[in-house]
Amino acid sequence: MPELPDAREFRQPEFPIEPIFVRRWSPRAMSGEPISQTELLTLFEAARWAPSTFNEQEWRFLYAHRDTPEWPLFFDLLVPANQRWCPKAAVLVVVLSHKFFSRNGRPNPVHTFDSGAAFENLALQGAAMNLAVRALAGFDRQKARTVLEVPDDYAVEVMIAIGRPGTPEDLPEELRSSEVPPGRRPVRESICEGKFAF
Ligand SMILES: Cc1cc2nc3c(=O)[nH]c(=O)nc-3n(C[C@H](O)[C@H](O)[C@H](O)COP(=O)(O)O)c2cc1C
Repeated sequence: MPELPDAREFRQPEFPIEPIFVRRWSPRAMSGEPISQTELLTLFEAARWAPSTFNEQEWRFLYAHRDTPEWPLFFDLLVPANQRWCPKAAVLVVVLSHKFFSRNGRPNPVHTFDSGAAFENLALQGAAMNLAVRALAGFDRQKARTVLEVPDDYAVEVMIAIGRPGTPEDLPEELRSSEVPPGRRPVRESICEGKFAF
């Protein structure tokens, strides 16, 4: 079974950090092998421990393993560009977030932020388990709401493809050359002491 390519060969931190942050990346190449329900629950366990406002835990996850009756419901939500490389994913996830505070019913301005933190926990755990994890904004949110019967008080945030790492040959030819962990702009270009001055 291919190892998740170690992104540290392609990108170095400017300041020393825990290796997992740089090692995590978002491969598209997946082998087509399934992952177990225990592995999937382990990823959701990592997501569970994300921080959230008032410990709201706004995130909810709907999922489908490949080769199950639910899979086409999820796969058909993806835009064609994502359907090109996703057939070998083992699991597709739709991330939802609850939009209102459970304590008083008021709108929660950070439900999306908190569900993003949960995603990153899941992605880091995936990298630690030698799994390929890639978030997907390219899907039909309205269709997801309808098909998956998501109530109005939940936002449809993002999809996630999870699988065992593959090789570039598992991808359509036009995607193979871009299957490299991308770099980042320097830290100092993202930060500003005091007022906005980018
Ligand atoms: C919220 C979000 C949405 C994304 N949507 C897509 C997508 O629709 N299709 C895709 O191929 N990659 C998607 N990506 C993956 C990004 O392109 C990738 O994370 C980015 O290029 C940084 O690369 P890295 O995660 O390998 O470090 C998405 C990532 C995030 C976090």
